[in-house]
Amino acid sequence: MGILTEAYKQHPVENKFITPIDFASIKDIPESHAWVETSPRKIYKNSTNNNNNNKTNEELTSIPVIELNNPYVVDQIFQACENWGMFQIINHGILGQTLEKVELEAKKLFNLPIEEKMKVLRSPDGATGYGSPRITPFFSKLMWCEGFTIIGNSLVDHAMQLWPNDYQGFCDVMEKYEAQLKLLADKLMGFMLKSLNIPKSEMNWVKQDPNNISTALQLNSYPSCPDPTRTMGLAEHTDTFLFTILHQTGNASGLQVYKDGLGWVSVDPVPGALVVNVGDLLHIISNGRFPSVVHRAVVNNEKQRMSMAYFYGPPLDYIVAPFVGYSGCESPCFESMTVKEYVSIKSKLLDSALSSITK
Ligand code: OGA
Ligand code: NI
Repeated sequence: MGILTEAYKQHPVENKFITPIDFASIKDIPESHAWVETSPRKIYKNSTNNNNNNKTNEELTSIPVIELNNPYVVDQIFQACENWGMFQIINHGILGQTLEKVELEAKKLFNLPIEEKMKVLRSPDGATGYGSPRITPFFSKLMWCEGFTIIGNSLVDHAMQLWPNDYQGFCDVMEKYEAQLKLLADKLMGFMLKSLNIPKSEMNWVKQDPNNISTALQLNSYPSCPDPTRTMGLAEHTDTFLFTILHQTGNASGLQVYKDGLGWVSVDPVPGALVVNVGDLLHIISNGRFPSVVHRAVVNNEKQRMSMAYFYGPPLDYIVAPFVGYSGCESPCFESMTVKEYVSIKSKLLDSALSSITK
């Protein structure tokens, strides 16, 4: 049984798509980062100070915020996944203090001089370490973003290279955060299965294989940008695994989700809340009922914005297939394959990965 890193080996990425520019020394936007059209789709701006108090309208046009301890949580998650593929959660049990520590450690990493960060540059066939977003080769321009990916032991290996005498603090904070996210993700998975009427026994990997499940923690930093209208932080994509739990820092907006009929909707940070979004594997197992949501991150010219995305999925050899028959009579819309196979398809095809396995 391999770990997630192995699934990426088959599709190496050229170094020019891995190495970020030195954002600290840049004053103008280089040609390589100048996007002609950052928003080919319509932009929707949601107005929160709408004084006619039209709740129905607001419900239709903003991402739901769900309180995890409320008695209707399963129903609310179902509605949010079906309508948006995304929601924010509060009362999730992860303390504000923990989030602040993660933020401080991430800042410590991204604030290192570029020569230091280059010591842990992602390798062409690797998945962990420092570098530009993995989706970079699919776009003609580079993104205004640098990232650091943690999968299993890569955490300690890379932290030791960055801070040979002082790596423990970073590792402790990230390990503790990952452990808490895992528990939260298991709980959310339970709610989602329940909402789809799928018996928990169908996904017993959560209990049987706790050390083999596919998880990754992705730290993203979007430096402030001299002209945000001409650049892109993280281009539009869907996430590969079951779902993602994302923390956005610094009270800076940037995440946007695409909704048919509305266009791009900004997912403004709610203090203490975490964002949850549906990924491709949940799209598949729900037979398309919970759509894998298209999202992106834009940048601003005032301050650095960071985010921490936790990707959650079954073990690599788990066979992913639509669960049919639990919520009415349906036939499967997607072919079945292992998680590892799907990751490989996604690395090769990106946007068209889901349609390539549609029956
Ligand atoms: C991601 C992602 C959004 C953000 O890392 O997959 O969508 O706001 N991040 O950083
Ligand atoms: Ni994403």
